[in-house]
Amino acid sequence: MSKHTFYLTTPIYYVNDVPHIGHSYTTIAADVLARYKRTKNFDVFFLTGTDEHGQKIQKAAQSCNKTPIEFVNAVVDKFKILWNKLDISNDDFIRTTEERHWRRVKKIFQQIFENGDIYLGEYEGWYCIPCESFWIESQLKERNCPECNRAVERVKEKNYFFRLSKYQNRILEYYEKHPHFIQPESRRNELLQRIKSPVEDISISRAAVEWGIQVPSDQTHTIYVWIDALLNYITALGYDDDMQTFQKYWPANVHIIGKEILWFHGVIWPAVLMSLKIDLPFKIFAHGWWTIEGQKISKSLGNAIDPLGIIQSYGTDAYRYFLLREVPFGLDGNFSYTALIHRINSDLGNDLGNLLQRTLTMIEKYFHGIIPEVSGADDELRSASEDTRVRVDHEMDELQLSRALEIIWEFIGRANKFIEDKKPWVLAKTSATQPQLAAIIGTLARAIKDISVFVYPFMPKTAAEIQRQLGILKDNHPLCLEFHKGFKEGTVSQKGKPLFPRIEPP
Ligand code: ME8
Ligand code: MG
Repeated sequence: MSKHTFYLTTPIYYVNDVPHIGHSYTTIAADVLARYKRTKNFDVFFLTGTDEHGQKIQKAAQSCNKTPIEFVNAVVDKFKILWNKLDISNDDFIRTTEERHWRRVKKIFQQIFENGDIYLGEYEGWYCIPCESFWIESQLKERNCPECNRAVERVKEKNYFFRLSKYQNRILEYYEKHPHFIQPESRRNELLQRIKSPVEDISISRAAVEWGIQVPSDQTHTIYVWIDALLNYITALGYDDDMQTFQKYWPANVHIIGKEILWFHGVIWPAVLMSLKIDLPFKIFAHGWWTIEGQKISKSLGNAIDPLGIIQSYGTDAYRYFLLREVPFGLDGNFSYTALIHRINSDLGNDLGNLLQRTLTMIEKYFHGIIPEVSGADDELRSASEDTRVRVDHEMDELQLSRALEIIWEFIGRANKFIEDKKPWVLAKTSATQPQLAAIIGTLARAIKDISVFVYPFMPKTAAEIQRQLGILKDNHPLCLEFHKGFKEGTVSQKGKPLFPRIEPP
């Protein structure tokens, strides 16, 4: 039987500057979902990449006295290095400067043209280079970009236009028929309001920008960077000259993005796909924005913390955990070192780390390091684990990643309480209570094994370390991602260092 597929994507990030915590947030969230789906036996295709054309990048290259391609090559490496350090398990990485991408974009542009959805016109209005967005006068806020508040420039040029207006009603209908298409719901409703008011055709080429993909039939224009970028979701799958992968994985199960680019993904992208007669993605999830110590992350404020610095000091898994636990997925959040250290000391150190440490200490002390067997399968921790699994699955399907973690931590709390309630140290005093002691410790070891499976998508290194200390993961014995499995008779534990040593707040 062939597996169900699951195709998920992140935005492709601009390479005008190095990645910051916002970029890492989306990519980590997508990675968690990808890993989770793989454990559920889905055939996952997880795509990320970089958006390398356009005026903003052309300008950034100029200001470093580099050619655009020299410039982008260097920045792309920074993204790749960070994803590697963060244990991102993407299946592909698409760069818009790759031949496979631009060749297909040209062809697709031509198809849209032949479908009658592109015409030459004149654009007169405003342009925000940092957002690569066109704005009409009435959209500006105090003469600045309504999205990022920065200065906009006046643009008057011949442009090719896309007939977005033609698709307005079909998009509206689609929203009504598919109430979960855009999430969270509050963002869907905002967007719906916008689509109900008149929608104008949009410029999809730039006459003044050289760094881009040429319009096939007109060398004096480059394709608007947002059209170039959105198409990555299908060009990476081979559309439309190598259709096997495309046919296997499309429609995307979810595009994960930040809230500021929802208009492009929720309105423009569907219209382009409709013009191409391609099915729409199943879901677009727009998460919230991080601030740093209460401030917007920005180059001019110079507060864009380098994630590499954080993971050097605190570790990859603590960082991954913090970002996904601290803020409900969909809402805005604030990064602070105090909050990070607090999470590490309490959730990771006290709750999870101590549970493993205490249990392994007892296994050494009472059982010479050998994990005791358990006979009855229906102990209370096992049924709590099963209950946890059902609830976690539900939250993961809704992309409620912080809720899933909360539920996992309830189970960790339950296991800690089990130790307090059963008082194994009392049972250890007499030989008559040895069988009960063995049952309790064996049960605990199995609960911790299940916890490693629960935390794996979020903290893959920690899951491996737990299983290593439990004696499950070793040469020729891979990570075990199935519940209630992994121990063989006589499994010898390998107690190691605490998972998350206490950090003294500065
Ligand atoms: O928009 N908080 O690229 P980009 C949370 N190239 N997430 C944040 C964030 C923050 N403060 N800052 C950035 C582009 N992000 C286009 C996308 S897709 C076809 C083209 C994350 O480099 C979030 O996912 O500006 C946001 O949508 C994305 O980075 C924007 O990255
Ligand atoms: Mg941006």
